[in-house]
Amino acid sequence: MPGEPGYWAILKHADVAHVARNPQLFSAEQQGVILENQPPERLEQTRNMLLMMDPPRHTEYRRPLAEHFKARVIGELEDRVRALTRTLLDGVEGEVEFVHGVAGVLPSQVVGGMFGIPAEDWPSIRRWAEQSVSQQDPELVGDFDVRAELTTMAVYAIQFSMARRAAPPRADLTSLILAGAFGGKPMSDLEFGSFFTQLVTAGNDTTKTMLSSGLELLLAHPDQLRALRENPALIPGAVEEILRYANPLHYFRRTATADTEIRGVPIKAGDKVAMWYTSANRDEDVFADPQSFDIRRNPNPHLSFGLAQHFCLGVHLARLEGRVFFEELLARFRDIEQTGQSRRIRSNLNNGLKSLPVRLSR
Ligand code: HEM
Repeated sequence: MPGEPGYWAILKHADVAHVARNPQLFSAEQQGVILENQPPERLEQTRNMLLMMDPPRHTEYRRPLAEHFKARVIGELEDRVRALTRTLLDGVEGEVEFVHGVAGVLPSQVVGGMFGIPAEDWPSIRRWAEQSVSQQDPELVGDFDVRAELTTMAVYAIQFSMARRAAPPRADLTSLILAGAFGGKPMSDLEFGSFFTQLVTAGNDTTKTMLSSGLELLLAHPDQLRALRENPALIPGAVEEILRYANPLHYFRRTATADTEIRGVPIKAGDKVAMWYTSANRDEDVFADPQSFDIRRNPNPHLSFGLAQHFCLGVHLARLEGRVFFEELLARFRDIEQTGQSRRIRSNLNNGLKSLPVRLSR
């Protein structure tokens, strides 16, 4: 990292787990979770996001939310996720750019629906989320101002929160959050804005990547794709292997709060420490034949959702979307063919595709 001493890359599965399990020693709050230094005003803007909180504050904010993301609660969304997936797939056929034409659409609709956002605003949600992960890719940054877009999203969320507070409660996540107590008090509109921004960005690009990288992997392994078509009960295991092999996020960062050591290597207070999920997911001490893609891999203790305190809040939703999407896609299209090279986003954080040309035949 130019002009800096660098950072520690934590590569082993057990060491990533050690860092994640010791938030008092490896803080998410001090300097955030990405490697690039953030200006103080940006850190201030993100301090209401769960991802950037340390305990005890993190626990106070996460506990009331966690119950709305439990497997049973998310399981009730299955019919809605399936209906959205079917409508989406009804509208595509033939030559398609899969990343934007298909994979990117579903997550914004699902999250938009959970929050009770009007359907006409779902495309904006998608645009904001996409732009927030495109910051390191000169081709994608283009002429938009990322910071201005993120501010627009936060302002949208704050106005939405104010409007919903004034209206009768509805059966959605917005009403549950506005009625809840966080750290003993209700969420302010500003806090709601941060939380909304986080969920929209956290739940969108990652899921889009799971779906698009997942399809590319299956097309590259036709025997495994055939096995899935013949036995859809293999799909949940395939989703886990897609997540292990093509983890949507490469790493998250912590900052050491005191002098310590990992595997005998001294780490000083203030040092940057990156938990490389990409490496941990291929740790030969944990995974047999780690460089092979195998939808039947079992057990599959990948770290693509992180672990411990910050373990992905949306894990059940992501798994539901992955399973339903591939069930519907394979049932709908008898033949799927990749028609050109995929292209990757330029990013040290987001391990995603920016295009995947395919032909879908019914
Ligand atoms: C394939 C899809 C997804 C992947 C790979 C993923 C990955 C992750 C990872 C690695 C973390 C841990 C961060 C850390 O340790 O610092 C995380 C946290 C989080 N994720 Fe996900 N995520 C996905 C989908 C979602 C969805 C669909 C949502 C919600 C709609 C969501 C919401 C969150 C939230 C709120 C956190 C912060 C939790 C906390 O700090 O306590 N994620 N996710």
